[in-house]
Amino acid sequence: MPSRLAVLASGRGSNLQAIIDHFDNIARERVAKVVLVASNRADSPALIRAATASIDIAHFDGADDGTQLLALLQKFRIDLVVLAGYLKRIPSKVIHEYAGRIINIHPALLPAFGGEGMYGARVHEAVIAAGAKESGVTVHLVDDDYDRGPILAQWRVPVEKSDTAESLAARVLNVEHIVYPRTVEMVAMLQQLESKTSS
Ligand code: GRF
Repeated sequence: MPSRLAVLASGRGSNLQAIIDHFDNIARERVAKVVLVASNRADSPALIRAATASIDIAHFDGADDGTQLLALLQKFRIDLVVLAGYLKRIPSKVIHEYAGRIINIHPALLPAFGGEGMYGARVHEAVIAAGAKESGVTVHLVDDDYDRGPILAQWRVPVEKSDTAESLAARVLNVEHIVYPRTVEMVAMLQQLESKTSS
């Protein structure tokens, strides 16, 4: 049985799209399937992408203590939670219930340029302001420590002298779309191996 994925997104949803496309393209040996896309923003374009792909969608209150989100994840029997541009903090009760099963992507080489408030253009502006020669992509497990969970994958991206936050963001995003679906696939495969050996 493929692992059942929930993708949480607050915005545009291009990583969600890359994940949907990736698992469609390897359909015959599918190890995971996006069964739910949920957002704290009812008008998130990610929800439209999901609906277009005939995936169930849900809106939840990103400011509550996690009760709503946890109920959703349990209702859909979610194995793995994938954050793709989800801008709220995941409440502790969800982190503890899904320990080791929540992953996030960050558009820089963590532990540099991460932490609370570091998202979107701010990350790339900070990289350029620091004069860094390279940036990149980090996929990591989510724990209570913001942007500090164990790192699963990283990929470097050069910073050009002429870069603006926009041009750097675009270069990094292209790499995100390659790295994230493959890392999600790897985590799902490991999860399945683990459940086979423990049963
Ligand atoms: C990405 O840059 C991701 O690294 C960050 O938020 C952005 C989401 O973009 N966490 P999209 O909504 O997937 O297009």
